Amino acid sequence: MNREFAAAFLNTTPESQELFRNHMHAAVEVLIRDFAAADQPYSGAAPQELAAAFRSRPVCPEQGTGMEELLAFVGEAVVKHAAVVNHPACVAHLHCPPLQASLLAETLLATLNQSMDSWDQSMSATMLEEEVIGWLCELFGYEKSGSDGVFTSGGTQSNFMGVLLARDHYAYSQWNWNVQQQGLPPQADRLRVLCSEAAHFTVKQSAALLGLGQQAVVTVPVDTLGRMRCDLLESTIERLRQEGNLPFALVATAGTTDFGSIDPLPELAALAREHGMWFHVDAAYGGALALSGKHAHLLEGISLADSITVDFHKLFYQPISCGAFLLRDSVNYRYLRLNADYLNPQEDDQNGVPNLVGKSIQTTRRFDALKLYMSLQHLGRERFAAMIDYTLELALSAAEQIRSHDTLELLAEPTLNAVVFRYVPATESETAWADELNHRIRDRLLESGTAVIARTKANGKACLKFTLLNPLTTKQDTAAILQHVVQIGAELEQHYGSEQHAREGVYS
Ligand SMILES: Cc1ncc(COP(=O)(O)O)c(C=O)c1O
Repeated sequence: MNREFAAAFLNTTPESQELFRNHMHAAVEVLIRDFAAADQPYSGAAPQELAAAFRSRPVCPEQGTGMEELLAFVGEAVVKHAAVVNHPACVAHLHCPPLQASLLAETLLATLNQSMDSWDQSMSATMLEEEVIGWLCELFGYEKSGSDGVFTSGGTQSNFMGVLLARDHYAYSQWNWNVQQQGLPPQADRLRVLCSEAAHFTVKQSAALLGLGQQAVVTVPVDTLGRMRCDLLESTIERLRQEGNLPFALVATAGTTDFGSIDPLPELAALAREHGMWFHVDAAYGGALALSGKHAHLLEGISLADSITVDFHKLFYQPISCGAFLLRDSVNYRYLRLNADYLNPQEDDQNGVPNLVGKSIQTTRRFDALKLYMSLQHLGRERFAAMIDYTLELALSAAEQIRSHDTLELLAEPTLNAVVFRYVPATESETAWADELNHRIRDRLLESGTAVIARTKANGKACLKFTLLNPLTTKQDTAAILQHVVQIGAELEQHYGSEQHAREGVYS
């Protein structure tokens, strides 16, 4: 071994092992002091302040910095000003506190640095990912034999894969056209994907990236609970066909980003089958309900999907990134598979050597399966389900708290654990004023570091949002944040006095 660089890596030398032990210990101390023990979900620092700290030192100095000094700097400049996802008042996005077991696994998998593209770079890791994927397929009601899947970077990648396979399957089955070889078929500009108007934007992004254009995505209105309307779906399919278009895929959402709404999966599955469309379910958010004895029924029909998106860095409490794409019939992976002599030569396929690269649109890929595996092993299904169930109850109680304030409006009864609401000013004749007020409330909470909550738009109006993924958040926490919202709203109203003042003061 070249001893010159030995200390820079973990290896057989006792010195490198001792350094590793000490560095890990020091990093843990920084995380506990500057992150875990934070009494606010954000320091409140402004963007310019944070940028200035990094500008004070070169990104790549000529000579290295000692680890102690480096960790002290990173603790001050990065860790202290992170969004504290573990804090009970960090309730903005689908952004979870990671489980202890998953943090341990993240350290292990980063140290092992296995690459999931070929078996000779990830022997045991490949076999474990295959095992976890098999379990996931069964969890969502797929037949274990015949189904398959892969870990992905998250919902964006999984949705992309769903639309990609749907497109290529349609071209092959309709026209014996091989998109992989021949590119887009001549009929490509008539291909259409259907989803609800509340579906994630990545459906449109996927269509655009796949050469179909965003025009290929036709959205269907939702009902008062935010679910795709089957009657309007049917009439939309009818209209598209009459216009000469080719609806080839239906994307349902099990857990929309804002309201957590779940489309009527059995009905949509039946319509997709009747019209020869690929049925993809985006369960990035709601997929975790499959673990819950109490709520799994909300996913009824998901087993009928041709493909499924599920994210683990949302309601499965995994560190980013961690998701999966599941496929009911593994034969459909043929639209993706390519053989590279250096990675997955055809002889390997014949000899049964499992190179996972053929199932993914990534080549080098992380061993994220270990995080989910260790979390499931450590916690067990019951405990996982109890946490998920708790957060759904918490959302219902937050909705109740919102209803009890005269100046707050609840936009919809929560289905999962997202709660959308708004502050309603006394003089609401001008919507722009109410919108401005809601944005300012959210900004004030962030600037003071009191709470990190989200903003969104519903029914054309600016709204506030809690995404209550964190099982550490209590009813008292949500009540306290709502009290702040009401108070800041009242102060802003009082300060600006009237809409006239508001126009002059706020909009200038
Ligand atoms: C319903 C839904 N699908 C897909 C995505 C994209 O997932 P990711 O951010 O993991 O790529 C999100 C993200 O919030 C989502 O809410």
